[in-house]
Amino acid sequence: MSGTVEATQKAAAPETGGWQLEGRGPEAYEAYLVPKFFRPWADRLLAVAEVAEGERVLDVGCGTGIVARGAAPLVGDQGRVVGVDLNPAMLKTARKEASHLSPAIEWRHEDATELSFPDDSFDLVLSQQALQFVSDPPGLLAQARRVLRPGGRVGLNVLRPIRHNPSYGLLAEVLERHVGDDAGTMMRSPFPEWSGARLREFVLEAGFDEVSLHLDIRAVRYPSAEEFLRQEAASSPLAGPIAELEGSVRTRMIRHLEEVLQEYTDRDGVVFPMETHLVVAS
Ligand SMILES: C[S@@+](CC[C@H](N)C(=O)[O-])C[C@H]1O[C@@H](n2cnc3c(N)ncnc32)[C@H](O)[C@@H]1O
Repeated sequence: MSGTVEATQKAAAPETGGWQLEGRGPEAYEAYLVPKFFRPWADRLLAVAEVAEGERVLDVGCGTGIVARGAAPLVGDQGRVVGVDLNPAMLKTARKEASHLSPAIEWRHEDATELSFPDDSFDLVLSQQALQFVSDPPGLLAQARRVLRPGGRVGLNVLRPIRHNPSYGLLAEVLERHVGDDAGTMMRSPFPEWSGARLREFVLEAGFDEVSLHLDIRAVRYPSAEEFLRQEAASSPLAGPIAELEGSVRTRMIRHLEEVLQEYTDRDGVVFPMETHLVVAS
């Protein structure tokens, strides 16, 4: 480990919801993870949801706002874009990153399962990698349905189970061994055991129909196993626990990760598949 993991970042209290970041976490998330996969996923989600000029779009669990930021130029000045998230630090980064955009995006600190908007407020509700973190996923979808106009659409992006994202399973095992059980659980948390069929059921149960399922499978590359660990840790609530490890333990952890990622290693670093579901329903 290079020792550059953000030591100032603290793991947030678990009761504030899943995948919460404090301190420099949102900046690292925006710098590392957004360009690598959240932005390409957002582009694909906006395309399959067919965002149109003049539409009113809500981005639920918006994080640093990559989906909302992509939607703004598509809806144009006649449209409206709102991002909601439970984490004020993520919203602060979102606000900063979107300051130049038109139409201006509205950022709100709200729980996805208790939205304050009146019924029929939006044409499209999008949610990228947030459904698996809320305590009540059907509650998020019920709220999405409520705030949509009749005939409105919902678009979701949710990672496939960890067996389809094997390098994260390997990273989780390494973290479990060298940092602790909670670290392994945290690294597995973005990958719910939901099949495409289960996601379809979720949206049907919330009262949507005309469901279309899409798979997104892309290759993700890092210059080394160490850099994979460093960027993932800096962008997650694990930065604190990892920064607190003794140097010798961190070195052993990196060697271990290099070993287990051997079959995903080539001359240019490590490369592995990342698989996610996209679901659009109206
Ligand atoms: C992995 S991030 C995804 C962020 C963003 N959608 C993106 O594509 O970069 C998950 C986000 O869900 C948010 N979140 C978790 N539970 C939430 C809730 N109940 N209401 C609103 N946001 C929530 C977290 O704060 C976090 O920003």
